Amino acid sequence: VISSGAGAPTGSTRLAAVIGAPVRHSLSPVVHNAAFAASGLDWTYLAFEVQPAALSDALDGVRALGIAGLSVTMPHKEDVARLVDDLSDDARLLGAVNCVVNDKGRLVGHNTDGAGFVGALGAELGVDPRGKRCLVVGAGGAARAVVLALARAGAATVVVANRTRARAEEAAGLAGAAGRVAEPADVVAEVALADVVVNATSVGMGLPGAADVPFPPEALEPGQVVADIVYQPLVTPLVAAARARGVTAANGVSMLVHQAAVAFELWTGAPAPVDAMTAAVERTLATVGDGPPA
Ligand code: ATR
Repeated sequence: VISSGAGAPTGSTRLAAVIGAPVRHSLSPVVHNAAFAASGLDWTYLAFEVQPAALSDALDGVRALGIAGLSVTMPHKEDVARLVDDLSDDARLLGAVNCVVNDKGRLVGHNTDGAGFVGALGAELGVDPRGKRCLVVGAGGAARAVVLALARAGAATVVVANRTRARAEEAAGLAGAAGRVAEPADVVAEVALADVVVNATSVGMGLPGAADVPFPPEALEPGQVVADIVYQPLVTPLVAAARARGVTAANGVSMLVHQAAVAFELWTGAPAPVDAMTAAVERTLATVGDGPPA
C-alpha cells in the first residue's frame, strides 16, 4: 500500500471526518491528520459543516460512501446518539456521541470524552482517580462525560457544582453512589475538600484578556490538582490562578488530544501517536493566539 501520509490521497485512502455546525474552527482535522501522518497510515480527515435538518442524510452518506469514522461536535452529539445503529455503554448512558465507527455500514456511536479526560489526567498530571475526592464544576455535556469517567475509574467521591442546580443533579446521578451535588454557594468549601478539581464549564474560554475563573481559587492549596477543560488561551485564567498558588494545573489540550486518540484507535486499530497529536494542536493554538476560536 502506498502511504499518502500527509501527502496526496490515493485510490485506497480511507476517510474520517468531523460533522458539526459551525465546524470551520474545529481542531479535529489538525489533530487527526497529524496522527495519520505520524503513523504512516493512508487515511485523511476532513471537516463537513452539516446543518441539523441534513443530519440523517449525512449519516446515510457516511454509510453509502464508506466513510470509515466520524467525529461529532455541536450541535449533533445527542441527535447522532438517536440516529446510529448501536451505542457503546458510555454513549448510551450519556445520551451523546462524539465518535462514530462505520462497521461495514453499521454505524456505532461512542463517547470518548470521559476516557480522554482520564487518560489526560494520568498523562499530564500523573493522577489516577482511584480513591480520590473529585470536584467537577459544570454539568454540560463535557462535565457529564467527566463525571461518569471519574466514577468508573474508582473516584471516592464525585461532587458536582453547577450554576443550574437541576443539571448538577442529573450529572451527579451518573456517578452513582459516589455522586453528590454541591450548592454553588458552598463551592469554596468544596474546593478545599477535593483532591482533584475539574473545570468543565466554558468559563475562561476565548475572549482576549478575560480573567474569568469558574470558582474563587483562593481555597486551592499545594497538593491539590486542577484540570481545566478550557484550552484557549493555553494558560487559562484558572490554570494561571492555580499555579500562582503553587497548585499543579493543566489546560484542556491533553483532554482534547486523548479523546481524539481514543477515536483514532477505534477507527484504525493502531496505537495513537499522542505526542505528534499534541504538538500539532499546540502549534495551531500558538498560531491562532489567545483569541476566541475563529
Ligand atoms: P459542553 O457540552 O461543552 O459541556 P454545555 O452543555 O453548554 O457545553 O455546558 C456548559 C457548562 O458551562 C454548563 O455547566 C454551564 O452552566 P449551566 O448548566 O448553568 O448553563 C456552564 N457555564 C457556561 N457559562 C457559565 C457562566 N458564565 N457561569 C457559570 N457557569 C457557566
